[in-house]
Amino acid sequence: MATGQLCVILVVLCSTLAENVKQKPKAATKPVRLFTEEELRRYDGTQEGQPIYMAIKGVVFDVTKGKEFYGKGAPYNALVGKDSTRAVAKMSLQPADLTSDTTGLTKEQLESLDSVFEGTYKTKYPIVGYTAARILKDDGSPNEDFKPEEQPHFQIKDEF
Ligand code: HEM
Repeated sequence: MATGQLCVILVVLCSTLAENVKQKPKAATKPVRLFTEEELRRYDGTQEGQPIYMAIKGVVFDVTKGKEFYGKGAPYNALVGKDSTRAVAKMSLQPADLTSDTTGLTKEQLESLDSVFEGTYKTKYPIVGYTAARILKDDGSPNEDFKPEEQPHFQIKDEF
């Protein structure tokens, strides 16, 4: 084979490899959107035309396509615009359960929470961000253990 041909092959090979390296997703370093409680409250389904967001375990889901459950006047409207982890774990709509607090939940409730989190929310609704409580430590510094959730069948939406 002529040296020229070999060079061309090498250049093509190298640039293909370089592309592959460049395109590798860097899940751990990708910036994610952080929601304060106040910000999350804006997406509680009361404003026509606004998306509807709800957090479980500090993960904020866009549940707009479930408007019949979560929109204004709908049966689960109380769950949105906030982190409703406890309510989902207990299948309760009591005001006292509309919180991220998991203190005292039973093993069964925690298992039920995970199954609804994985089986319903992560498969049905795109993740748009995380609550401050999930991303930051109590003193406001970054939580080094934070890892974004995998959601391979969705385009990551609104993360920047
Ligand atoms: C009499 C009581 C209840 C009945 C008959 C009921 C019925 C249902 C039904 C039929 C669905 C599935 C709808 C569908 O996928 O098309 C559903 C979903 C759901 N229910 Fe209930 N439910 C009740 C109480 C509750 C309570 C108290 C909670 C409190 C958290 C709750 C939370 C949910 C959630 C989070 C979903 C998933 C909605 C989604 O797919 O986005 N349910 N319920």
